[in-house]
Amino acid sequence: MPVVVDPDPATVGELLTAMPESAHGVDCTERLSAWLTEHTEEYLVLLGPHLDLDDALAACESLRTGRPTASVVLVRDVIDAGLLTRAMKAGARDVVPDRDLEAVAAAANRAYQLYVALRGPTGATQRGKVVTVFSPKGGVGKTTMAVNLALSLADRGARRVCLVDLDLAFGDVAITLQLFPSHTIEHAIGSEDSLDVSLVDTLLTRHQDALMVLAAPSGPDVRERVTPALVARVLTILRETFDYVVVDTAPAFDEATLAALDETDECVVVATLDVPTLKNVRVALETLEMLGIARGHRHLLLNRADDAVGIGADKVEAILGLSVAAQVATSTDIAAATNVGTPIVVGKPEHPSSTAIRDLAGRLAGQPAEPAAEQPAAPVTRRFRIRR
Ligand SMILES: Nc1ncnc2c1ncn2[C@@H]1O[C@H](COP(=O)(O)OP(=O)(O)O)[C@@H](O)[C@H]1O
Ligand SMILES: [Mg+2]
Repeated sequence: MPVVVDPDPATVGELLTAMPESAHGVDCTERLSAWLTEHTEEYLVLLGPHLDLDDALAACESLRTGRPTASVVLVRDVIDAGLLTRAMKAGARDVVPDRDLEAVAAAANRAYQLYVALRGPTGATQRGKVVTVFSPKGGVGKTTMAVNLALSLADRGARRVCLVDLDLAFGDVAITLQLFPSHTIEHAIGSEDSLDVSLVDTLLTRHQDALMVLAAPSGPDVRERVTPALVARVLTILRETFDYVVVDTAPAFDEATLAALDETDECVVVATLDVPTLKNVRVALETLEMLGIARGHRHLLLNRADDAVGIGADKVEAILGLSVAAQVATSTDIAAATNVGTPIVVGKPEHPSSTAIRDLAGRLAGQPAEPAAEQPAAPVTRRFRIRR
């Protein structure tokens, strides 16, 4: 995720148009340092034309040894031989003229290619975690919880999080966040074999600074053409770049969901307190077991957990044989927050629902990445891949 540094917000905005969607802007080198501390995989630092030249060169100098895998590109108003010599000595990878966005984009591309080359053919970077939110029932709060969990995991930009809408026919993550995506997973159809980080990046839509979103197709007819191989490839690539990939799903074990579950580290199962839902959730939990999502990685989230219907959390635990990881009560605040496009964890961080969701996010973040050792008969491969 490239980072652009310039004290002038309009210049940052302009330079960001030449960068991938996930690029981020800061106004000074102090904020750049804070950003780099949080983003150890940064591959491009673009120092804008309004930064003091000495400050910019000092930043180059410290990144040269402190972060050798990050390319530093200087954007300057006037470029002469003296500047080029100083920039080169300081370790800048490129110097491009101000207002030449094509040159900026080309420099960004070169930086990315260098990063991939330095990383080696295996692409051995740290793997982000895939957290899938699932329920066999519609309308139980999957999307609401996926959005709020993703925002909680992002922790105001401290972690890189991508929210993927795999409810391919009726996905509503984008509308829930009041986003208007220009690209969706639809634009990757047919690219299963050629997809890479930079291509996937062009499919993402930014939600404020904290979250990137891969939206569902705009029409329901496209679903059939999004193959399981494409879903798997997209998730594999996203987990290379993001700390967390949160997946919202359709209320069924459809092909996209199964492909996502193959990649899933933590599965949040949403249930409500009614017998038909609980019966289906029980079956779903058995299926998750079969798919190799170990018990310690299945998290039961009871939504609308206050409904006076004669079933309490203890009864649910007895029926499902799984303890309740989080409970969220029915609250008009949740629906109202969704309706104004500010999910409850952001709009009302002190609300009991927000606390419950944040706690769950905290526990998901603390989970070890591999299935818990208590699981007997662990398959030799990590997953029993029913699709292969
Ligand atoms: N705990 C809750 N209290 C009140 N309304 C809720 C709660 N959870 C979800 N909702 C509302 O229920 C509706 C369906 O939720 P949604 O997240 O879209 O479900 P799903 O994705 O499972 O179909 C939405 O209007 C949402 O705002
Ligand atoms: Mg939904």
